[in-house]
Amino acid sequence: MKIGVPKEWQGVKTLVAATPDTVEKLIGLGFSVCVESGAGAAANYPDEHYVRADAEVVSGEEVWASDIVTALDTPTGQQIAQMKAGATLVSRLNPSANSAIIERLAEQGVTALAMDMVPRISRAQSLDVRSSMANVGGYRAVVEAAAHFGRLFGGQVTAAGKIAPAKLYVIGVGVAGLAAIGTAKSMGAIVRATDVRPEVADQVESLNAEFVPIPVVQHSEDGYAKEMTADQAKLANKVYAEQAAEVDIVITTAQIPGKQPPLLLDAEAVAGMRPGSVIVDMGANEKGGNCALTQAGKVITTENGVTIIGYTDLPSRLPGQASQLYGQNIVNFFKLVTPEKNGEPVYDQNDEVVRGVTAVLDGQVCWPPPAVKVSAAPKQGAAPTAKAQEPSTNADSDKLAPKKKSAFARHWWKALAALLGAALILAAPAEMTSHFIVFELACVVGFYVITNVTHALHTPLMSVTNAISGIIIVGSLTQIGSDSPVIAAVAFVAALLASINIFGGFLVTHRMLGMFRRSSED
Ligand code: NAI
Repeated sequence: MKIGVPKEWQGVKTLVAATPDTVEKLIGLGFSVCVESGAGAAANYPDEHYVRADAEVVSGEEVWASDIVTALDTPTGQQIAQMKAGATLVSRLNPSANSAIIERLAEQGVTALAMDMVPRISRAQSLDVRSSMANVGGYRAVVEAAAHFGRLFGGQVTAAGKIAPAKLYVIGVGVAGLAAIGTAKSMGAIVRATDVRPEVADQVESLNAEFVPIPVVQHSEDGYAKEMTADQAKLANKVYAEQAAEVDIVITTAQIPGKQPPLLLDAEAVAGMRPGSVIVDMGANEKGGNCALTQAGKVITTENGVTIIGYTDLPSRLPGQASQLYGQNIVNFFKLVTPEKNGEPVYDQNDEVVRGVTAVLDGQVCWPPPAVKVSAAPKQGAAPTAKAQEPSTNADSDKLAPKKKSAFARHWWKALAALLGAALILAAPAEMTSHFIVFELACVVGFYVITNVTHALHTPLMSVTNAISGIIIVGSLTQIGSDSPVIAAVAFVAALLASINIFGGFLVTHRMLGMFRRSSED
């Protein structure tokens, strides 16, 4: 089949859905490719490069008459009319917000695949265009902030005096938020971040930023936040305003799927910020954004000297790589649906990823798909690992914050373990006392070391515990032939437990690596 790549026509005019590199990969999957003349020019991919990659360079009409059209934006009525019945459109369609376009595509008898609706599950990560764009957008948000902030990001000690590092606060730690944190940290800023989902605290801390908890906690089932009640939003926004007044730059990325981005910073919060501060509102759109004063597509400066950046096209400001990432997402999608590499894709509706993006199948609207559950949340009741900052001490926040267990409920087992340990030492034969003391101290130290290691470092920790298990096995082998059946039994149990730890470690590592392995060669 022939894949057509049009020149983009709306907000993302600098981007293109296939680069010469991804064209080659599509051809490798058995497709032929045609590209509208000038489609990649703004991203520095001239027509000649596409020709060199074995694509045809053709007119817009020819592209829209292809078997498959792959683009970034929702098509116009005229473009849809140029598509042939039975063709496929692969683009960002946001079907929930664009029901009229979806109906129109169905009337045309085409199949419409909404690449912005890829379910957020591990298997689908390589084709998630929203993540690719949010990642590039988060990076660019920091670059825009730096360009409008009249000072350095990194601290310095110079002969002329000390420069304090800039302080940056990210609200919403999804893909864009994490990219912004990483970029700002690499530029030397002090970074804080907040999210309504406490499970992201580990990710924030693994980037050496500080997680600022809010007195509203949501345990997400699908990796997304839900809309807050008015009371919850008031409490959360109070924390955002306090933080905004302390920092130099705020980057907001909060979104609720299918809804208008939540309002996080009202006019009062902006008025409380210092002159020279910068807000980058990634939630900006024609209807508003995360900040009440944002103007979509514009940079404005308030009376108190706060610059608010409302660009809605951040990835388009880095068109080369954004196009390459988008194009690679499309290649990964076609790898999934064309396993035979024969250029004949099959949109298997039993595959939850394919079903998740299918808005129209052979002229039939099939939106919305059944929900795909993704749990990134810890089990209910598990304490968030972030250092708990005391939330605002008012009655409402107490009601909304997770309940703390009493000191007795948290510590009774430690007291019991201490008593049992003491009893063991007292009851042990005199020659064994010192061994038991060393053993119990090792248990206590081991417990505190392991429980205080962040999740992100558990894999290297596993290597250390494997080394310790190795030592245990050597020790137990020296004792296993003992004449005393008790010593032989203890040595056997020690060898068994240490082996379980070692082989279990290998199994877990194997499973983790499997999550990153691609199903076929790249
Ligand atoms: P995401 O869904 O991965 O992350 C959003 C995060 O915000 C989630 O972690 C969620 O828990 C959190 N959140 C939601 N409501 C919150 C609240 N009230 N307080 C604190 N946290 C809250 O989304 P992603 O992919 O990172 O995109 C973020 C935003 O950036 C989206 O609105 C997206 O449309 C936008 N975006 C904008 C671009 C631009 O050019 N302006 C470019 C790319 C993305």
